[in-house]
Amino acid sequence: MVFSVAIDGPAGAGKSTAAKQLSAMFDAIYLDTGAMYRTVALAAIKRGIDTQDGIALEKMIETIDIDVRFTGNGQEIYLDGENVNGQIRTPEVSLGASHVAVFPPIRHKMVEQQRKIAAKNNVVMDGRDIGTYVLKDAKYKFFLVASVEIRAQRRYKELYGKSTEADLESIIKDIEFRDENDSSRKMSPLKQAEDAILIDTTNISIQEMVDEIAGYINDA
Ligand code: DC
Repeated sequence: MVFSVAIDGPAGAGKSTAAKQLSAMFDAIYLDTGAMYRTVALAAIKRGIDTQDGIALEKMIETIDIDVRFTGNGQEIYLDGENVNGQIRTPEVSLGASHVAVFPPIRHKMVEQQRKIAAKNNVVMDGRDIGTYVLKDAKYKFFLVASVEIRAQRRYKELYGKSTEADLESIIKDIEFRDENDSSRKMSPLKQAEDAILIDTTNISIQEMVDEIAGYINDA
C-alpha cells in the first residue's frame, strides 16, 4: 500500500523545503505540482500565447508533453523532451503559472498526471489543492502559512541565490497578487482542507517545521 502526504499553502510558506526533507525521511518521492503549472506557462510564453487566454491554452495543452522524472537529485521536469528545471523559476513564469492555473482544462490535465503518480508511489506532494482536491483521501494533510513579509524574504533569498534580478518590493507584490488570484479562482482554489493540520512557519526554523510535521506522520 502506498501513502500520500499533502502539503498545501501559499508561495513561500515552506512547502517545498518541508516536502523535500520529509520525502527523504519517509522514503517517498517528492512531487512539486507548482512546477507543472509553471511548465504550462513556460510553454505558452515560448509560443507567444497569452497566459490569460484560456481558449488558446486549451488547444495548446493537447499539443505539449510534460514529463516529470524523479532522480537522485529530486524532481526534473521536461517540456517536449527538454529539461526546463532552470527556466521555470523566473518571476515571469511565476505570474504566468498563477494565470494558467485558473483554467479547468489545464487543471484537469495536471491533476490526472498527479493522481497517476500518487497511485503508484509513496509521495509527498505540494501545491495549492492537494488536500482539497487532488488527493482528498491523503493520509496526512498539512496547510502551511506564514506572513507575507517573511515569505517574500525567503523568495528573495531563493532568487538571489540563483542570481535572478529581483527586489523585495516587487516580490511582495507578486506574492500578494498570486495569493489573491490562487485563492479566488473557481476551480480548486488555494484553501485549507477541513482535515488538514495548520502550521504557521513565520517564527519557526526549518528544522522545527520539519520536526513538527514529521511528528504527525507515524506509521508511514
Ligand atoms: O508552488 P508554485 O509557486 O511553484 O506554484 C506556481 C503557481 O501554480 C501558483 O501561483 C498557483 C499554481 N498552482 C496551482 O494552482 N495548483 C497547484 N497544485 C500548484 C500550483
